[in-house]
Amino acid sequence: MSKSPDGDRPTAAGWIAEHLPRQSGRSFVVTGANSGLGLETARALAGLDAQVIMTARDLAKGEAARDDVLADHPHAQVEVRQLDLADLDSVREFAAGVSDLDVLVNNAGVMMPPRGTTVQGYELQFGVNHLAHFALTGLLLNQLAQAEDGRVVTVSSGLHKRGRIHFEDLHGEQNYGRTKYYAQSKLANVVFGLELHRRLRANGIGLLSVLAHPGYAATNLQSTGPTGVGKLLMKVSNRFMAQDAAMGALPQLYAATGEDVESGQFIGPDGRNESKGYPTQVEPLDTARDRELAQRLWNISEELTGVHIPLDPKGTSPS
Ligand SMILES: NC(=O)c1ccc[n+]([C@@H]2O[C@H](COP(=O)([O-])OP(=O)(O)OC[C@H]3O[C@@H](n4cnc5c(N)ncnc54)[C@H](OP(=O)(O)O)[C@@H]3O)[C@@H](O)[C@H]2O)c1
Repeated sequence: MSKSPDGDRPTAAGWIAEHLPRQSGRSFVVTGANSGLGLETARALAGLDAQVIMTARDLAKGEAARDDVLADHPHAQVEVRQLDLADLDSVREFAAGVSDLDVLVNNAGVMMPPRGTTVQGYELQFGVNHLAHFALTGLLLNQLAQAEDGRVVTVSSGLHKRGRIHFEDLHGEQNYGRTKYYAQSKLANVVFGLELHRRLRANGIGLLSVLAHPGYAATNLQSTGPTGVGKLLMKVSNRFMAQDAAMGALPQLYAATGEDVESGQFIGPDGRNESKGYPTQVEPLDTARDRELAQRLWNISEELTGVHIPLDPKGTSPS
């Protein structure tokens, strides 16, 4: 196994080779795959012989990322498709073109930008990070449910622990804060992933819903959203404190392909404060398990996206 230059720990590629099974004949969608963790997830999946649809909002960036993957894995089955998660029409159009999908990796995200809104007028971080992925999952659910070992992996953040769902001001119209609304969106990811798990089980559907977070990895996330001093500080801490994107991608890769992964699990890094390391099971914030909160968020997500996910919370959905 290849070892990292600074010790006996394996590189991300070495860890993958040792722990993850081949994915021949399995089909994956990775959102936000032109950059950071999404790109490294697509690269690793391609190396495991998976078929990968890499989504990008900017096709030129997506094509450059695909070429980067092909440079490492020339025979990989990777393609790029356009998907703008800030526009629910784009989500519907993209989903309509996908078939025979085994695994959806809800990865794309934006962090701590000045207040902005999606095409439909929702706060940008809640809209892109949560609502669009809720809608995408709902639109692809039937085919995922039919897959053998189908999975939905939703990428959250350790910062979900600082979050609250601000039902009284969901879109930050009265009191927007960049970190506050990022944390809200990442808590929404966890609440959704766990509620999806419970509803799938209650309705006897074998599809897995698994959560992951990368710890802290140096990617474009820290420079795309933040501005001013915040952006500068993140540039410095990226250099000295973060792990690389290939390491950061391991928890979501394990969630998407690991043989002993179970639905409802949350996978994060095994290092101190869950900020770096190799995949292990971690715990969400207690509040994320609150069923009343989950049902309220589910209902409002259906209302705002117009996507009804036909999974009765108590398990009476037609199978
Ligand atoms: N890096 C970390 O330390 C860290 C920590 C905790 C959680 N996470 C989570 O990890 C996930 C991946 O982030 P990353 O670190 O890999 O960041 P990244 O390098 O900035 O990648 C984010 C991806 O999301 C895409 N994206 C942003 N807005 C979009 C939109 N409206 N429509 C479609 N795609 C959009 C970006 O596209 P563009 O290139 O066009 O902007 C990019 O492909 C996010 O969910 C993030 O919250 C990361």
